[in-house]
Amino acid sequence: MADSVIDLRSDTVTRPTAGMRAAMAAAEVGDDVYGEDPTVNALEAEVAALFGHEAALFAPTGSMANQIALQLVVPPAHELLCDADAHVVTYEIGAAAAYGGISSRTWPAVGADVDPDVVAAMIRPDGYWAVPTRAIAVEQTHNRGGGGVIPLATLRELRRVADEAQVALHCDGARIWHAHVADGVPLAEYGALFDTLSVCLSKGLGAPVGSLVVGSAEKIERARFVRKRMGGGMRQAGVLAAAGRYALAHHIDRLAADHAKAARLAEAIAPFGVLATTVRTNLVPLDLTKAPLDAHALAAAARARGVLVSVLGPRTARLVTHMDVDDDAVDRAADALTTILRA
Ligand SMILES: Cc1ncc(COP(=O)(O)O)c(C=O)c1O
Repeated sequence: MADSVIDLRSDTVTRPTAGMRAAMAAAEVGDDVYGEDPTVNALEAEVAALFGHEAALFAPTGSMANQIALQLVVPPAHELLCDADAHVVTYEIGAAAAYGGISSRTWPAVGADVDPDVVAAMIRPDGYWAVPTRAIAVEQTHNRGGGGVIPLATLRELRRVADEAQVALHCDGARIWHAHVADGVPLAEYGALFDTLSVCLSKGLGAPVGSLVVGSAEKIERARFVRKRMGGGMRQAGVLAAAGRYALAHHIDRLAADHAKAARLAEAIAPFGVLATTVRTNLVPLDLTKAPLDAHALAAAARARGVLVSVLGPRTARLVTHMDVDDDAVDRAADALTTILRA
């Protein structure tokens, strides 16, 4: 990809900084399947502590971290509840069913506007006449929900619902760092609300690879077994964990700048009537139902002007800010997009 191209498709497109690469090169390593990689062990301990849990496990991807966590809390032939747009049932290629024998049932897609009463009404108890619910999953921030942040009060209410029904609560926290920065909620406060979390280092935090499953010591011991069975046991993974440790140390607070860039983009485009949602974090969803061109036409015209955008549906597109697009690039992208939309 030419450096002049402004890539707003996703925050996964970032490349490691010089500082991150130096940390990777200097990493002390060992064989992590033997539990002997000191940098992986340090990362796992650090992330567990950040979320106030006993343990964490390094995994290659957010999808694998989610699926390991789901297998910990939902036995085969039992049920997971989540929203219809959740990453775990939209973009993980049926993994919960294929690997965990998990049955998934969804509430209508509402992004971050989860209604705990709706969720509570869906829970099915143990019995031979229906699939018993064993876990509820939420996404913080919500990817297809335009980077929306589930308010702390809603999460607390969901915890109460889960406790009452004695089911687990899982958080797909690929971008939980963004929620933490946007709402000022300490990571440990989020951590205390969930039985399991998956968190990603390779989205807004800028690491090339890596996610973690977070939970109790007992769950993470089982998670190690599930990860190996899924082919996710890595060897000298410390070079990757070092990138993650660097990201945690240097790239959390700076997310506020990405949120500000997203807000600027949204503001520039708003007069053209294409903004679907209030932008809270680094994702800018575009609703093109009233625009003069559809999502594919917009993406093609933007590409011709050196700006890459994601097409999510016939009339839905998305822009994502991240550490590899600076303020100047955001201004140039806003110019290109407004020129296209004005035409
Ligand atoms: C909310 C959410 N969860 C999980 C993932 C999966 O991460 P990965 O691509 O590392 O599998 C993503 C990826 O974008 C995501 O947005």
